[in-house]
Amino acid sequence: MDRYLVFGHPVRHSKSPFIHTLFARQTQQELEYGLAEPAVDEFAHALRTFFDQGGKGCNVTVPFKEQAFTLVDRLSPRARRAGAVNTIKLTDDGVLLGDNTDGAGLVADLKSHGVTLADSRILLLGAGGAARGALAPLLAELPSELVIANRTHTKAQQLAAEFCDLGPVTAQTYEQLAGPFDLVINSTSASLQGELPPLAPALIHTDIAIYDMMYGASDTAFISWAKQHGARQTMDGLGMLVEQAAEAFTVWRGIRPGTKQVLRELKRNLGVI
Ligand code: ATR
Repeated sequence: MDRYLVFGHPVRHSKSPFIHTLFARQTQQELEYGLAEPAVDEFAHALRTFFDQGGKGCNVTVPFKEQAFTLVDRLSPRARRAGAVNTIKLTDDGVLLGDNTDGAGLVADLKSHGVTLADSRILLLGAGGAARGALAPLLAELPSELVIANRTHTKAQQLAAEFCDLGPVTAQTYEQLAGPFDLVINSTSASLQGELPPLAPALIHTDIAIYDMMYGASDTAFISWAKQHGARQTMDGLGMLVEQAAEAFTVWRGIRPGTKQVLRELKRNLGVI
């Protein structure tokens, strides 16, 4: 049976095996999908061993995405732009192809929620790996403006400079931000420390769409905060998780699974509904 898995550390709570097992059942593909949690300095060895022993493909999550970027034989254009790899496929001619499906997953999820990206003003909070992965796919949707704000402003400036050939992207400090924005995407890891990005409440209005790449059984701190300040459309990163997985599954198997039912089952599994 074709074998796939996700590499991460920690990875025990990953929902990827659940999601891919449902995709496989839905599309009648015979495969198994497991977990691997190598020590941080053992990833390269574990990756090689997995493919030497017949593995067909894998996902890569925190903290290995940047390292995976350096270990594959070939990169897809979107992985090269993202500077990180979250999906690896062993091709028929034995090449390890590194891809990145995170940004495509974000855009697919935004669209499935009916969010319009063309001609919109987008504010992206954070300038780490998650923001980098989102930039090219977001700019491909032709927003009128994409502003990056980050606690460490120089990192936002660097990202904007790196992606400005793809569209109207600029960097501003949190203090400089002037609305109205149509969509705010939180890519920061602030909520992991129970913190909020330092965004002025005045930037939130009833017609704004709020997206937090994080998710949990209850509202993230950022989503609660945005709701308190009047946002009516809020979305967390659970849909992005399922969509990036669907994109990876398509890369591996050449068949695109449906995501709606799988997202519903995942929510039930997490106790969200
Ligand atoms: P990831 O790969 O998830 O993007 P990362 O590369 O470590 O993780 O980036 C984390 C991002 O969250 C950074 O933009 C970070 O801001 P700094 O560049 O200033 O470190 C941002 N971040 C983390 N904690 C934050 C907080 N409490 N408030 C605002 N931004 C925060």
